[in-house]
Amino acid sequence: MARLNYSQNLFGAINTYTMTHLLIRHARILLPDAQFLLGDVLLQDGKILEVASEIVAPNPSIVIDATGLTLLPGVIDPQVHFREPGLKHKEDLFTATCACAKGGVTSFLEMPNTRPLTITQGALNDKLHLAAQKCLVNYGFFIGATPDNLPDLLTANPTCGIKIFMGSAHGKLLVSREAELEPIFAEGTRLIAVHAEDQTRIIQRRQKFSNIIHPAIHSQIQDEKVALNATKLALKLSNKYQRRLHILHLSTGIETKLLRESKPNWVTTEVTPQHLLLNTETYNRIGTLAQMNPPLRSPENNDILWEALLDGVIDFIATDHAPHTLEEKAKIYPDSPSGMPGVETSLPLMLTQTKLGRCSIPQVANWMSTAVAKAYKIPNKGLIKPGYDADLVLVDLENYTPVRRKDLQTKCGWSPFEGWKLTGWPIITIIGGQIVYERGKLNTDVRGKPLKFE
Ligand code: DOR
Repeated sequence: MARLNYSQNLFGAINTYTMTHLLIRHARILLPDAQFLLGDVLLQDGKILEVASEIVAPNPSIVIDATGLTLLPGVIDPQVHFREPGLKHKEDLFTATCACAKGGVTSFLEMPNTRPLTITQGALNDKLHLAAQKCLVNYGFFIGATPDNLPDLLTANPTCGIKIFMGSAHGKLLVSREAELEPIFAEGTRLIAVHAEDQTRIIQRRQKFSNIIHPAIHSQIQDEKVALNATKLALKLSNKYQRRLHILHLSTGIETKLLRESKPNWVTTEVTPQHLLLNTETYNRIGTLAQMNPPLRSPENNDILWEALLDGVIDFIATDHAPHTLEEKAKIYPDSPSGMPGVETSLPLMLTQTKLGRCSIPQVANWMSTAVAKAYKIPNKGLIKPGYDADLVLVDLENYTPVRRKDLQTKCGWSPFEGWKLTGWPIITIIGGQIVYERGKLNTDVRGKPLKFE
């Protein structure tokens, strides 16, 4: 798909006068009470002004005829790796946010494992500066914990929280030992998000299986106990200090069992579409493209994770968008890197599940927007409601289109879901009242804003 400049594209006319109003007409609108209204939504100055069954267009207005389309709050993806600065051969903030716009993702929270690592206020400032120049959607960034940057963690601002890699990280970003973790839980006053894998057990098991190069061994090396051990430790420290904890990309049934038995109300957790929809059988189909951390699990775990999502043990969905080039992924295991892209397929993947009867559209909107805004205390986002930010996505739930490599915006250029026929593809994505994506075309003049965290 071509990336066009605003002045060259279908919406060129919008630039010729001051856009005060945008009216979406005849949409099937998801309301905050999970009911649908067939009606209109009026946007003004980046906000939702009115939601009603019929609104008369003020002048001047851009009118979108949304007949047959469903209007949802824009997706807030709370775990992505967008690779800039430092790893731009895999992805950058521009290409990643083009992918976001196409996928209906209107805001994202990004991880600190860029180069340099986002572990100081200076590195955070630099990322925010780059984002202001390059991001088509709204942005927020984590500050990464190291064994010795507690002062930076305590004062970093603005940030959505502290990210701790308890395992599966190299060098400074690895904080795996209880003695290193404890001060962060004891003193860190903001949300702590953990990548929960037990590094000691990973190292032991890497040695045990070092003669095997089939990528499926990845799920055995970083087995369920690797995840459970770390989740237990994070929960123990969070309980000790009553510290706000978020467990990133939960992958196993045994972790959901633990959380079902005892999940303090200050703990949240998330799951990725790939841990819900892919499993260890996927290695036979796509080899190292299925390799990620924490790894894909057995098919039984898919069902248990679904159950936990449906009954509220898991709070919301994140993609863990972690692109690597096809060349890097073609390396022989264990030299192949872990991670897969996700932002432009997550919404259609989940909406397709609604057609299969697995969940409802209001549940998907809650898991991918409302609940995320609530957990990260992002004001005025995640609902279609007057006064809220006009970050919206119009999706088509009638037609099915396959995931095709040629359509992808992510720089890495591949998806683990290629060939899957999906419905619920975004037709129009709106950021702060501006159309950033419409029917295959991007408006690359739009810029997102830094997210606020209350
Ligand atoms: O598989 C993964 N790859 N999981 C992560 O959490 C991060 C990552 C990466 O940055 O490549």
